[in-house]
Amino acid sequence: MQYFVTTNTASSEQTDCVVVAVFNQGQLSSSANELNESSNGQIQHYIDRGDITGKVGQTLLLQDLNNIASPRVLLVGAGDQTGIKENDYNTLINTIIKTLDDSAATRASAYLTDINVNNRSAQWLVTQAVTAAEASLYQYTATKSEAKPRGNPIASVSFYAASKDELSQAIAHGKAIADGMSLAKELGNLPGNVCTPTYLAEQAIKLGQQYDAVTTTILDEDKMAELGMGSLLSVSRGSRQPAKLITMNYQGAGDAKPVVLVGKGLTFDAGGISLKPAAGMDEMKYDMCGSASVFGTISAIAELNLPINVVGVVPSSENMPDGDANKPGDIVISMAGKTIEILNTDAEGRLILCDALTYSERFNPEVVIDIATLTGAIIVALGSKTTGLMSNDQDLADDLLQAGRDSDDKAWQLPLWDEYQEQLDSNFADIANIGGKEAGSVTAACFLSRFTEKYTWAHLDIAGTAWKSGGKAKGATGRPVPMLVQYLLNRIANKN
Ligand code: BES
Ligand code: MN
Ligand code: ZN
Repeated sequence: MQYFVTTNTASSEQTDCVVVAVFNQGQLSSSANELNESSNGQIQHYIDRGDITGKVGQTLLLQDLNNIASPRVLLVGAGDQTGIKENDYNTLINTIIKTLDDSAATRASAYLTDINVNNRSAQWLVTQAVTAAEASLYQYTATKSEAKPRGNPIASVSFYAASKDELSQAIAHGKAIADGMSLAKELGNLPGNVCTPTYLAEQAIKLGQQYDAVTTTILDEDKMAELGMGSLLSVSRGSRQPAKLITMNYQGAGDAKPVVLVGKGLTFDAGGISLKPAAGMDEMKYDMCGSASVFGTISAIAELNLPINVVGVVPSSENMPDGDANKPGDIVISMAGKTIEILNTDAEGRLILCDALTYSERFNPEVVIDIATLTGAIIVALGSKTTGLMSNDQDLADDLLQAGRDSDDKAWQLPLWDEYQEQLDSNFADIANIGGKEAGSVTAACFLSRFTEKYTWAHLDIAGTAWKSGGKAKGATGRPVPMLVQYLLNRIANKN
């Protein structure tokens, strides 16, 4: 899709459809008012008749109004004139996209700058709209014989602004975030027999070829053994697919300390010897969505040429039952030298992440953020709307929470207090890999915290948010790419 900025009034805009807001109680936005005056009251006529009241998400498509250059006018309900929530704005944007897709229009111009979304800027409104519009174009086709034909998708959108150059960066940000989300969705949706650790490594090499600023390195199992990654390798031992440790180094700011993003890349989690039940097990192909979000974020910032250094680290493996797989009670030695008693082979994410987190020390990181579909317990706690956040540093936690609100890709913090650490005590090793039935997401983070003492670190548990489960809507969401890119953008803005 192409995006432009227009400075024309709504009535004079030459396009297939102009989109203007109507607020609660049929209050006209300034652009709706301008159309109303040009058409001698036609907009007011439909409002008086009760065809649209202004409730968020309502639409009314009008045709051939008097003295209006565009053949179509889409009125869209924008709720309270004095302000609406971010979430309402996204509902409104998605309704507009759907309505335009269902119409014959292929070009549209949006006059939405007079909507007050929690006092956010015009740039914010446009970035969100572009992200949503681009994201709506994503369709999974990779393993289907035929792509399902879409209705009549919009090919170009113009945004009204008082001056032309005010919005170009906002458009670029929205596009890059949506492209990053699409990459994350695609990697997530690919089946486990296609998207293996080796496949992910190949995609990382491609990113390195695509962008000069990205350098990719792949470590194979021999190399990992040399580094002493006994925990990660113990998970991979149960699988015929060799594990990979992927590093994508984006250098956009000379020798500044990097932000390190560590993404869980479990390309299929059968549970190992602690085998998962059959129902819904196919969805464990999504257990690499943490790594997919790292790919998506690196590609977005490379596309935007952001002045920052970011290292993506992806430990990738399968978790399968096998004669050589981890057994409950086995004890392995991590790269950090700590011994781990594996009481449940299905708590494998932390086993591969701990070695990747130790490995991350070598990048001399400013901060390290891991992203992982780590626990079913986070879905019990927060459902599928909100990502779980735990951190050893409150400033970093606050920055991520803020980035989540800014991008409407939200997280909520859970405690990481010392009181929980004793749940990981083991009679036979330095640490157990599970912490009992209480506070499963917190004890998983506690496990990781034993390997992140040397730096500022946060953990995002995306088990609930990374994909939609079951039924027709089943599919990866591309989260938390928006939050991560926003976090990096905010970091850059706050430095200047
Ligand atoms: N990948 C799963 C977590 C998961 C489960 C994500 C369901 C999404 C939906 C992880 O490897 C896992 O199996 N965790 C166990 C940990 C338990 C054994 C302590 C879990 O959550 O059941
Ligand atoms: Mn598991
Ligand atoms: Zn897992």
